[in-house]
Amino acid sequence: MTLPRAAVRAIYDRVGARQDSQSWYEDVALAELIAHGRFETAETVLEFGCGTGRFAVMLLDAHLLPHATYRGLDLSGTMVDLATQRLRPFGGRATAARADVTEPIDASDGAYDRIVSTYLFDILNGDEIRAALSEARRLLAPDGLLCLASLSRGSGLLPRAVSLAWQAVYRVAPARLGGCRAVRLPDHLDGWTIEHRATVVRRGMTSEVIVARPCR
Ligand SMILES: C[S@@+](CC[C@H](N)C(=O)[O-])C[C@H]1O[C@@H](n2cnc3c(N)ncnc32)[C@H](O)[C@@H]1O
Repeated sequence: MTLPRAAVRAIYDRVGARQDSQSWYEDVALAELIAHGRFETAETVLEFGCGTGRFAVMLLDAHLLPHATYRGLDLSGTMVDLATQRLRPFGGRATAARADVTEPIDASDGAYDRIVSTYLFDILNGDEIRAALSEARRLLAPDGLLCLASLSRGSGLLPRAVSLAWQAVYRVAPARLGGCRAVRLPDHLDGWTIEHRATVVRRGMTSEVIVARPCR
């Protein structure tokens, strides 16, 4: 059972800037996404669950075209405020807004070259992932790419031990883990062609990285 949205919003309103302390295991997955997401050819990027805007700044600073635009969406008002402050140096090119990405998103069909989401699908339940992916499919341009990173189950001694310990805590106190648990992204990607899939591990924490396009 995943946490209800109101609980998730309350957690991330409280966590705020401390979310960035997860960079010790997230950065290796973000680097993998950057290496395979062909961001240098994207003109419009949308992020689901943008958090503090940390990944947005990485993309805007070093990987996106100078005129490319970025929009981040997040359920938490605190996260949107933090991302908005962080994106200020990029002016009108980069914005953040409050939205629940499991509900219809206010944007036109085919508006985005990349839809990015890191460490969000591991909070959502199956129906919510389906709803977010359905919006992603609608919003992606014909050559657009979906770029995902999520917590995943580990294999090998240390990653497996970490996964089992995480699972045990999640069962009794999911809020302590930000509502995140390991998911298998490909299980949710029927109707998508996976162009790149990798598992990355940092100090026992396992993440899965996927770049996919909708089957048309
Ligand atoms: C684990 S944090 C990851 C943040 C950021 N992507 C990162 O990798 O650091 C999950 C983020 O997703 C947001 N979130 C959770 N459920 C959401 C939903 N249904 N719609 C939009 N954002 C959501 C949370 O508020 C939080 O900022």
